[in-house]
Amino acid sequence: MRTRVTELLGIRHPIIQGGLARVAYAELAAAVSNAGGCGQINTATLQEPEALRAEIRRCRALTPHPFGVNFPLGRADITALLEVTLEEKVPVIAFTAGNPAPWLRRCEGHGVRTLVLIAGPELAKKAEAAGADIVATVGFEGGGHIGRGDETTMVMVPRVVDAVKIPVLASGGIADGRGLLAALALGAEGVEMGTRFVATEEARAHPAYKRALAEALPSDTTLIKRSLGQPGRALDSAHVRHILECEASGAGREELLPLISGAANARGVEGGEMEDSYVWAGQCVGVIHEILPAGEVVRRMMAEAEAGLTRLQAFNR
Ligand SMILES: Cc1cc2nc3c(=O)[nH]c(=O)nc-3n(C[C@H](O)[C@H](O)[C@H](O)COP(=O)(O)O)c2cc1C
Repeated sequence: MRTRVTELLGIRHPIIQGGLARVAYAELAAAVSNAGGCGQINTATLQEPEALRAEIRRCRALTPHPFGVNFPLGRADITALLEVTLEEKVPVIAFTAGNPAPWLRRCEGHGVRTLVLIAGPELAKKAEAAGADIVATVGFEGGGHIGRGDETTMVMVPRVVDAVKIPVLASGGIADGRGLLAALALGAEGVEMGTRFVATEEARAHPAYKRALAEALPSDTTLIKRSLGQPGRALDSAHVRHILECEASGAGREELLPLISGAANARGVEGGEMEDSYVWAGQCVGVIHEILPAGEVVRRMMAEAEAGLTRLQAFNR
């Protein structure tokens, strides 16, 4: 399956593993890339430049194929981390949750492909104008931070495809080959998936988190941080219900901060304390039933997409 995304990134399948904070390290990124997709290392927990360099080198030792490094913006200064990533000649660099323009400029002339995660046509146009090679647009169904507009992937993807000339990845709600085929039908040239890759053997997430994803229904996910203008989709838990109560009663950022901190996330992702934490999860939990090797996720998706295409072609007789 060839699209502008597979051509630009030099990969075999149009499947990109989302930059999963606290979850995506060398093992996961390499497993996705070895299967023909594009894996990513996340920098949220690798704030020391030399720690990031070591992780990039570990990934390179595990795969000869292209992979990416993902930068959530707007928290710490990423200057030193980006320099290390450029020095190490990582082929794909992704930005999310902030203004990517200065960082895209810094990447120019280094032969890297850039990917910006956005939500909707306006931000897609800005990313294109700032020089992004590819945008991934994430819809309402998605796990983790999403757009403020409550716009579903089904509606958002064709709107973004119409708004920009650069290739678009569909993100949010996609977890199998049927989702991939649907995304391509909407005009996307690949998919970016988060939740599906958390429920894999190589993801650095506690087994209780992975199990919870495989058992959850779409209605077990809910949006937190709406009151802060930064909605994120999480798995229901006692802690999440407490956050929602605080938001409903008008709690401000100061009061919410300890509840939505990295430490509260780590208690679930790393510690497996599923009730006393918040962990990100998309509505696609409804089609995730088992924890698989990440490469198997990619292989199954491609086989399902091929089978789905044959099924669609039969309608055309
Ligand atoms: C646990 C988790 C952590 C995430 N962290 C990041 C991140 O740091 N950077 C990023 O670009 N996207 C992040 N995302 C969003 C994903 O890249 C992707 O856009 C989203 O998961 C798509 O929806 P899906 O979960 O339905 O596949 C995260 C998603 C999850 C589930």
